[in-house]
Amino acid sequence: MAATPPHLWLYGLHVAAVSRRAGIGRALVRAAENVAHGRGARQMTLDVDAGEAGAITLYEALGYTVVRHHDRHWRPVDRRTAAVVAEGVPATLIMRRSLRDRSRGG
Ligand SMILES: CC(C)(COP(=O)(O)OP(=O)(O)OC[C@H]1O[C@@H](n2cnc3c(N)ncnc32)[C@H](O)[C@@H]1OP(=O)(O)O)[C@@H](O)C(=O)NCCC(=O)NCCS
Repeated sequence: MAATPPHLWLYGLHVAAVSRRAGIGRALVRAAENVAHGRGARQMTLDVDAGEAGAITLYEALGYTVVRHHDRHWRPVDRRTAAVVAEGVPATLIMRRSLRDRSRGG
């Protein structure tokens, strides 16, 4: 998670392929929301690649809606050499939900 309350962002959600569809992703998002709410956040926001249909389905099931589309420019740099190791501009959705009624959604 990043940013300061009352508005936190969720980054890096990942469940090992062999453990998917067992409710772990849902539980991780809910746990992050509980931490955010405990720190005074009113909303949780995340970005997801537009092609990640499974992740988008998960977030929608948890009450997230699309607030914006954008093209996220990523360019990781090797920490030792400072060389750019890859680059891309995937279409991305910004999704958000209110944490006021956290009982909504699964
Ligand atoms: C997206 C991801 C985190 C989901 O984790 P998970 O533990 O499999 O998710 P859950 O088991 O909690 O799924 C909860 C619900 O989300 C939806 N869902 C999750 N994965 C889905 C998929 N691949 N296709 C369709 N729906 C999916 C379903 O509604 C599911 O409920 P159901 O299994 O009862 O049908 C996991 O697939 C993943 O790590 N993907 C690669 C990384 C990634 O895309 N991360 C998101 C970055 S923003």
